[in-house]
Amino acid sequence: MDGVIVIAVDGPVAAGKGTLARHMATRTGLRHLDSGMIYRAVAALVLEAGDDAGNAQACRQRAERLVAADLERPGLRDQEIGSVSSRIAAHREVRAALVEFQRRFGATPPGAVIDGRDIGTVVFPDADLKFFVTAHVRARAERRHRELVSRGETIDFHSVLHEISERDRRDSERTWAPLRQADDAVVIDTTALDARAVAEKALDIVRQRLGAASVLS
Ligand code: DC
Repeated sequence: MDGVIVIAVDGPVAAGKGTLARHMATRTGLRHLDSGMIYRAVAALVLEAGDDAGNAQACRQRAERLVAADLERPGLRDQEIGSVSSRIAAHREVRAALVEFQRRFGATPPGAVIDGRDIGTVVFPDADLKFFVTAHVRARAERRHRELVSRGETIDFHSVLHEISERDRRDSERTWAPLRQADDAVVIDTTALDARAVAEKALDIVRQRLGAASVLS
């Protein structure tokens, strides 16, 4: 892409892609978009309106009216919204409305680090650099459980493990833009790495592929 740099960071839930994307954005000076928040914001609007998450047209209407301020709503990271967001994300009509939002964001100079499920495969197939961040499902459930408990939610580990396995299944098996590793993505397995080690590894690759001077601050 001319004049802008887009780095795609895809992977399953709680693999550490959001932490990595935020860190890379800070270090490179690029903007950051957590695309999951877009789906979560639409899910919140659907819930609030009392719409059925299985109704594609109702969900599409919410998606088309989404504005940036909706991404700042409180409670978007709650478990229930996460679950509904994965259901509404299966509708092709919802995805089409949200792809444009993401492309506009990425095309705004100086470019962006965008994390999600289909950034390197569908939203930005020509991204300058693509990462696929993954980890064993148990490690991801442990991280997510710790995060929810630290935010004051009362939830047991096994229901988090079950919920994450279900979301993996829905995100990977949906017909439209399923979670899939792009052929040209660099894979980072974070099962045995802490956030700092993941960031170092990724930034080494950014330096090799994009050149230190052009992006790294
Ligand atoms: O990353 P997250 O858990 O905040 O994402 C919430 C849901 O949104 C996830 O279950 C699937 C959906 N999603 C998607 O389909 N495509 C994206 N690029 C990002 C998220």
